[in-house]
Amino acid sequence: MLRRTLLLSAIAIPALSACASTVGAADPMAPLPHDTSSHARPDEARVRHVSLDLTADFDRKVFHGKATLDIVARNDAREIVLDSDGLVIRAVRAGTREAAYTIGEVSAGKGAPLTIQLNGARQIEIEYESAPNASALQWLEPAQTASNKRFLFSQGQSIHNRTWIPTQDSPGIRQTYDARIVVPADLKAVMSAEMLTPDGEPAGEGQRAFRFRMPQPIPPYLIAIGIGDLAFRAVGPRTGVYAEPSVVERGAYECADMERMMDVAEALYGPYRWGRYDVLILPPSFPYGGMENPRLTFLTPTFLAGDRSLVSLVAHELAHSWSGNLVTNAVWADSWLNEGFTSYIEGRIGEALFGAEHARMAEALAWSDIQAALTTVTPDGQRLHWVGEVDANENSSAITYDKGATFLRTVERIVGRDRLDSYLRSYFDRYAFQPMTTQAFLADFRQHVVRGDAALEERLMLDQWAYEPGIPSNAVAPVASGFDEIPNYVAAFVAGGPAAAAPWEHWNTMQRQRYLQTMPRQLPAERLRELERAFALDTIGNMEVRFDWLMIAVRNGYQPSGPAVERFLSEQGRGKFVRPIYRALMDEGAWGQNLARTLYRNVRGRYHPIVQAGVDRIVTPA
Ligand code: BES
Ligand code: ZN
Repeated sequence: MLRRTLLLSAIAIPALSACASTVGAADPMAPLPHDTSSHARPDEARVRHVSLDLTADFDRKVFHGKATLDIVARNDAREIVLDSDGLVIRAVRAGTREAAYTIGEVSAGKGAPLTIQLNGARQIEIEYESAPNASALQWLEPAQTASNKRFLFSQGQSIHNRTWIPTQDSPGIRQTYDARIVVPADLKAVMSAEMLTPDGEPAGEGQRAFRFRMPQPIPPYLIAIGIGDLAFRAVGPRTGVYAEPSVVERGAYECADMERMMDVAEALYGPYRWGRYDVLILPPSFPYGGMENPRLTFLTPTFLAGDRSLVSLVAHELAHSWSGNLVTNAVWADSWLNEGFTSYIEGRIGEALFGAEHARMAEALAWSDIQAALTTVTPDGQRLHWVGEVDANENSSAITYDKGATFLRTVERIVGRDRLDSYLRSYFDRYAFQPMTTQAFLADFRQHVVRGDAALEERLMLDQWAYEPGIPSNAVAPVASGFDEIPNYVAAFVAGGPAAAAPWEHWNTMQRQRYLQTMPRQLPAERLRELERAFALDTIGNMEVRFDWLMIAVRNGYQPSGPAVERFLSEQGRGKFVRPIYRALMDEGAWGQNLARTLYRNVRGRYHPIVQAGVDRIVTPA
């Protein structure tokens, strides 16, 4: 018996490590799945470390300076291929000598390959500058910020960092980095890294330099920078808020639960491995709700509701410290491994902090989003693992996020919460700082949880969840009793009753959203006026609720809310809010199209390049 056990484990151990090495592991040249979004050829040569020495030139809207890359390469590798998009290359050295390089053909959305001859060197130095229209960067004029000073921020995900950093821009190719950034002396620089010089150091006439260090290997889309008039408030021993001075107090109030969120996530999924967790609240043109840049989440100011009702956004970005930043989708076709896992963990953090009923309501809102996506998204777009040509910029979030999270909740229901929790904890430990694929995740889950149990395998429907369109029949549909009464209030309102009959003042944000989101699509103008007046929806401070209302107003061609729509589209540039409103306006005949076109001509320049590109496709000139 003893002999047999020994024999079994002798077989099991090599099998286990072989599995781990298929997606990265400690071997710096471990094989990677092919990333169609990158020009890199990581099987020949890989970037391991990026060292940036850059100056931010706000007048010309460019970074200029030098990137020094440490690489690992096969002995016979003669060149390394980097990603670049619009970079102006001034000089390239390999080791100490000038190196020959070529910039290949630009392919749509992917930029061009920058191929450098190595001549045996394992360090290369690139003198370059970014283009003024680099899609990762938004250079803000003083009028676009709260402090009336200039501001710059970057957004790397998914494939934008190649517009300001010449490196291999593929999520499987993990890199450490350090940086020295020179900025105008009245501004401060922060990055997704350890801040070595909180107050900066003198760097010539009217300038200051800031230095940073990220010692953990990260996927390159997580290199991020913000430069502006920034203040800081601690909210806990490891947590704090950076924002422009007039925003930082509101930010600290809204983020008061951050340290507790970290404690909850660590208790579930193991130690937070990045040191500090701070957030940077950006000016209103930030194109996303949030971005999980390591050590320094970037946040839209539109989550500042004044009552902490939208902090699930922070829970989400914090959760990426495990799912995404620690264990990372190797290719964007598997981004549900980042976002679906993260949405599931976001829900678990919310449940621990605010209770089960709160969590069920969030799940029920997401469930409705999934149902809507199943009617609007093509079957191919309904798969968790994307197949075929994948546009790394286009995510159907209801699938990637909510179907992904529902998958894990379904697994949780079937195998039990304790078993899933301990599995996930071990998964984050096993694959820490490694890339992951759908295939490798399913293999790992089968090895550690299913373990050949055919009945369990059948109940889980793992492959159907991962690879097929639609929602498998074993899906756990959320039941939120906090929404039970809402259909009655909607019906009473639609039948002509006063809007104020609904207990709006007692509802939380999600109940208010449910009420608005389940209104019939067409409502008479009189009903819309009644709704708006009862709850001051044109000006309500909660931007998620205001967005839900303005979608109703626009879809009904309700012209009295036109000025509120214009204000909403002028005052912030979050893609999730801005794109659907323009889309609805363009569907609304002459009134909506005129409003959209005229307004967009005026405000386009305030939007982030990523959002501009999206709205350009929606608002076509007359
Ligand atoms: N990583 C994403 C943002 C992202 C996704 C950037 C795809 C580029 C391409 C971030 O974690 C996120 O999911 N943000 C959401 C908020 C969240 C609460 C669903 C957002 O920005 O709305
Ligand atoms: Zn996310």
